[in-house]
Amino acid sequence: MAKAPHPGQNLSTGFRILEMASVKNLMDENAEALPMFEEMLKRCSNLVQESFADEFSKLSDRPLLDAMRYATQGGKRFRALLVIESAKLYGVAGKSAVLTATAAEAMHAYSLVHDDLPCMDDDDLRRGQPTVHVKWDEATAVLVGDALQAFAYELLTRPEIGQPDVICALVSKMSGVTGISGMVLGQALDIEAEKNLTPQTLQSIRELQACKTGALIGWAAGAGANLAGVSDKKLKQYGWLIGEAFQIADDVLDVEGDANKAGKKVGKDAAAGKATFVSLLGLDGAKSRARGLVDEAKTILDPFGSAADPLREAADFVISRDT
Ligand code: IPE
Ligand code: IPE
Ligand code: MG
Ligand code: MG
Ligand code: MG
Repeated sequence: MAKAPHPGQNLSTGFRILEMASVKNLMDENAEALPMFEEMLKRCSNLVQESFADEFSKLSDRPLLDAMRYATQGGKRFRALLVIESAKLYGVAGKSAVLTATAAEAMHAYSLVHDDLPCMDDDDLRRGQPTVHVKWDEATAVLVGDALQAFAYELLTRPEIGQPDVICALVSKMSGVTGISGMVLGQALDIEAEKNLTPQTLQSIRELQACKTGALIGWAAGAGANLAGVSDKKLKQYGWLIGEAFQIADDVLDVEGDANKAGKKVGKDAAAGKATFVSLLGLDGAKSRARGLVDEAKTILDPFGSAADPLREAADFVISRDT
């Protein structure tokens, strides 16, 4: 089996709910303020949405553009938050951080569009809306994914991001975490796990999930250090740990979640007979493993002091979310 990056060593309330909450705040002066973390997530979400709108407005009308806009709307913007908050730790803000966050979300959106295809998970609901291949067709969904992937790299090479060596590191690391040693490998192993040809072990599931989900989350958490041109070792470790917890939470939500809140179907993993953290450890075992990973991730942030509080809250959010 290919070597996965995580185990050991490196090792919203979603968009619509947040929107509803902030609308309530706007409409009702006495409404309780949103918890601070959700405010932060909402701010990142707005920044990224504006950034996508700005970038797409530079392109003349053409086939796929509407579908690209559609595919990049909504979502929790958790990866964007990790980029923006890790960048803040090093005093990097503004366009550089926002473009990097937008690139992470473009890459993530591509992965979701392809993940939902009939030849993959065959899902018809994503972020509370029909999936791209349902709203348009399969060819559009394949091409939108391709275009978003290329678009992510284009954004990362903008001069506003930083010096050429910074750009080079971000691009090279992005290709590592999303390609054949990262997300794509994880997706391939995930499909194999669904066929249940070989019994999965905790270690094999960890490797699979580290590639599928943890790698891009690790990239996003490490992005701040990379933007500042310093070692991303600690932040990446934090990212890998919360990345595994994030996928455990996704697997738990698939069993216990509410499709209306999650904006996607639930109960799919068991129906497909897929080996997941939950099928392997049981619900309680999976939850307690996720809690342990989050606690460990937070201790890695100790050297950053209180400046890393947003990242600590992000770690807690991973396992408290219901979307
Ligand atoms: C869903 O990711 C797919 C996984 C990697 C588990 P998210 O839960 O971050 O999806 P959005 O972006 O909020 O829709
Ligand atoms: C998706 O994992 C991971 C990637 C898109 C790389 P899942 O298939 O578990 O995600 P959901 O449950 O469809 O969001
Ligand atoms: Mg999948
Ligand atoms: Mg899926
Ligand atoms: Mg899932």
